[in-house]
Amino acid sequence: MRLLGHHCSSSLALAVLWSLLVVLAGSSSLALGCFTRIFSFGDSLTDTGNYVRLTANNRSPYGAPPYGRTFFGRPTGRASDGRLVIDFIAEEFGLANVTAIQAGSAPEDFQHGANFAIISATANNGSFFAGNGMDITPFSLDTQMLWFRGHLRQLAQAQQNGSVDALLGGALVALGEIGGNDYNFAFSRGVPREKVRAFVPAVVDKLAGAVEELIVMGARVFVVPGNLPFGCAPLYLQRFRANGSWWDYDSKTGCLAWFNRFAEYHNRVLTARLDGLRRRHPDVTIVYADWYGAMMSIFQAPGKLGITNALLTCCGNQKVECGRPGCPVCDDPSTYGSWDGTHPTEAVYKVIADGVLHGPYASPVPLAKTCPPS
Ligand SMILES: *[C@@H]1O[C@H](CO)[C@@H](O)[C@H](O)[C@H]1NC(C)=O
Ligand SMILES: *[C@@H]1O[C@H](CO)[C@@H](O)[C@H](O)[C@H]1NC(C)=O
Ligand SMILES: *[C@@H]1O[C@H](CO)[C@@H](O)[C@H](O)[C@H]1NC(C)=O
Ligand SMILES: *[C@@H]1O[C@H](CO)[C@@H](O)[C@H](O)[C@H]1NC(C)=O
Repeated sequence: MRLLGHHCSSSLALAVLWSLLVVLAGSSSLALGCFTRIFSFGDSLTDTGNYVRLTANNRSPYGAPPYGRTFFGRPTGRASDGRLVIDFIAEEFGLANVTAIQAGSAPEDFQHGANFAIISATANNGSFFAGNGMDITPFSLDTQMLWFRGHLRQLAQAQQNGSVDALLGGALVALGEIGGNDYNFAFSRGVPREKVRAFVPAVVDKLAGAVEELIVMGARVFVVPGNLPFGCAPLYLQRFRANGSWWDYDSKTGCLAWFNRFAEYHNRVLTARLDGLRRRHPDVTIVYADWYGAMMSIFQAPGKLGITNALLTCCGNQKVECGRPGCPVCDDPSTYGSWDGTHPTEAVYKVIADGVLHGPYASPVPLAKTCPPS
């Protein structure tokens, strides 16, 4: 009797333990396997191989060593030494390798989703820039949406039921960062600062328009990053520091204060617009990814995360750009903030991705806590 009792309670304990394990396993698989795919849009901060494929005849440095040195061991078309934020997000959700849309052709090539982001992309299209006296014909967000609609038609046909609603409903849409180049191009062409500042509403309109369109198509979960503190980018520091007056200089971080305030302004207009979208679409989750805050945490405490050369460039210099023969490269990219003067190192991208996935650099919830509605 006593023995039986003992047996009973221990099997009860086992059952409790077992259900606990099941619950634990269930909660840990919440993130893993929660999205069926990732569709991603953006610029060089997110491109995983589109640009180098479309410019193969006119080889760009992004397709040459030492790009990709830290993680992939070879150039992949990513403008960094290794993984980007989108790679860490895909890993977290068990969807490794969101294929660049130009890197595949059949639906089987895109089982985990597709990445439409492309180096040099702008939020606005060519007509906007022509209207502002700038002769550039960019890969715009409109171009990426065009590719996306084509891709979706192809997927729907392959599934033979033609419903794209379900396809998009289970997906995570990563929209951006995009818009930074709208400003970069203007600043580098000497457009007056206040005139560039006036671009912000048009850039945010483009982003919000894409979100609206994707919601109508069936998307339910978005992550939308803001702009980086580009006043801390070595390229900006070189170009504008010579002229830069002391009053335009943040002595705590060593960054250019005006350009960082510009990024903050963009981010304020963007987050206000995202609030509006959330109110209009209460069934849709839109996570704002605070790339700015995550990256500033590095500049505000350099060395804290091992990134001791936060404002320095690892690869290339003013004479030989990164990816050109003979470019200088640092020994340990993981201690640098910038890989090539304009693009962060994998180490920085990891800090940003962690902050977005697990907090505190995401709102209203850390990205890893979101899942599509079942
Ligand atoms: C993911 O991409 C990297 C770089 O292109 C490649 O080395 C790796 O084999 C890929 N993994 C899978 C599972 O396709
Ligand atoms: C360019 O953008 C403007 C403003 O969003 C839009 O009205 C126009 O249709 C776009 N042009 C093309 C060719 O997509
Ligand atoms: C289409 O049908 C296939 C096979 O029945 C199914 O697996 C898939 O989820 C469906 N897709 C959509 C978009 O409804
Ligand atoms: C630096 O200042 C000079 C003289 O004011 C001006 O012509 C030039 O465009 C400025 N350069 C930059 C990069 O702002």
